[in-house]
Amino acid sequence: MKPLLITLAVIVGILSIPSLVPEKPTPNLSDQELRREALTHNMLPVPREREGMLRVADNPVNPVTPEKVALGKKLFFDPRLSRDGTVTCASCHILEEGGDDNRPTAIGYQGRANPHHLNSPTVLNAALEKFQFWDGRVHTVEEQAGGPVQAPFEMNMTPEELVERLSKDPETVREFAKVFGENNLTFANVRNAIGAYERTLLTRSPYDDFLDGNDSALSPEAKKGMTLFMERGCRGCHTGMSVGGQFVKRFPLRRYLDDYLGFSFDPKFRRKTSEFPFDNVGDFHGRNGQDFFRVPVLRNIARTAPYFHNGAVKELHEAVRIMSKYQLGREFTPDEINATVEFLKSLSGPPVDYGYGTKQ
Ligand code: HEC
Ligand code: HEC
Repeated sequence: MKPLLITLAVIVGILSIPSLVPEKPTPNLSDQELRREALTHNMLPVPREREGMLRVADNPVNPVTPEKVALGKKLFFDPRLSRDGTVTCASCHILEEGGDDNRPTAIGYQGRANPHHLNSPTVLNAALEKFQFWDGRVHTVEEQAGGPVQAPFEMNMTPEELVERLSKDPETVREFAKVFGENNLTFANVRNAIGAYERTLLTRSPYDDFLDGNDSALSPEAKKGMTLFMERGCRGCHTGMSVGGQFVKRFPLRRYLDDYLGFSFDPKFRRKTSEFPFDNVGDFHGRNGQDFFRVPVLRNIARTAPYFHNGAVKELHEAVRIMSKYQLGREFTPDEINATVEFLKSLSGPPVDYGYGTKQ
């Protein structure tokens, strides 16, 4: 009995250490210091001009051309990609709504829900991600685009049937020939055209204006949030121009006694039975079922509720609290959460008009 008690005491002791060590105060950075700190750590603005966009988003094996982008845009909104002609990519990725569908879980072909209760991520800036899908299983938007067309609960087509269907339409045949050459209406080129269009869907926001040198683009509260985001370590995972999409990481990274025992003095958590800090509806456990998830893009995050892989969390404040507690090991105070949310709101903005006639 005694060794068991001692072991328990040690475990409880270890688990409470982080909350006993005082947090080093968040520095008060000048606008210039804040900007430099961001720019020197890979937090970069989305380019305003086409050449800049091509530098960061083009794919050497599927180069972006105006004709390909126009074809890709048509296909993105084309219901023929689904078996019964009712579902388009835009059904679940509404560009005016932040690039997702604002539902906890995606609903596709004939009202079928995603079998793992997965939430639709945004397509905006997805081209900048190194990992696509919640488990990061593919790398490019071209590879990704083949998935939804074939998924029985999304568009429910086969590549052969889609090519056959599109080949019956002389106009579509002509458009493919113009972009890819004669007799190149293939499933791979459907993916290539859609991918090229997605590569142009980069968004700019007040955050980009600040990084470009406009001090007044962010409120003081948002600057405080940006400092917390960098100094406390959110940026360690949500990094790069897309502010995410560059890694696949464990979630939750830290565990607490409550999570193991399913018991807490806080009545709010008493009923907890899952090892997740939220209800794991759908029971998806990421890569290899080991709780590794693609770190999501945070651009436009204020417009893409609900949150997390299964859409179980409605409020951005709650998502930030969960992140601070489970990924950083120290729960933010309500003030810190508010400031971080202000910063995250500054990441919202529409797709840039790169002159392809695709501006939303
Ligand atoms: C029924 C809703 C639905 C339809 C239709 C749909 N998607 Fe998705 N999309 C999702 C869901 C859900 C995921 C996440 C799936 C996963 O991780 O397994 C996703 C993931 C993606 C991603 C990866 C983004 C990221 O950050 O991981 C891209 C890009 C994307 N879809 C583009 C498209 C394109 C292009 C089409 C049309 C060919 C399309 N989607 C059709 C629901 C949909
Ligand atoms: C160790 C890596 C890591 C750190 C550090 C981290 N995150 Fe995350 N974050 C993730 C992963 C992985 C997910 C996806 C988890 C899931 O959906 O199951 C995520 C999800 C999110 C989401 C929900 C995104 C969506 O599209 O639903 C928000 C918001 C977020 N993080 C903000 C933050 C903030 C703010 C911080 C700092 C307080 C932070 N994160 C720190 C890895 C991290």
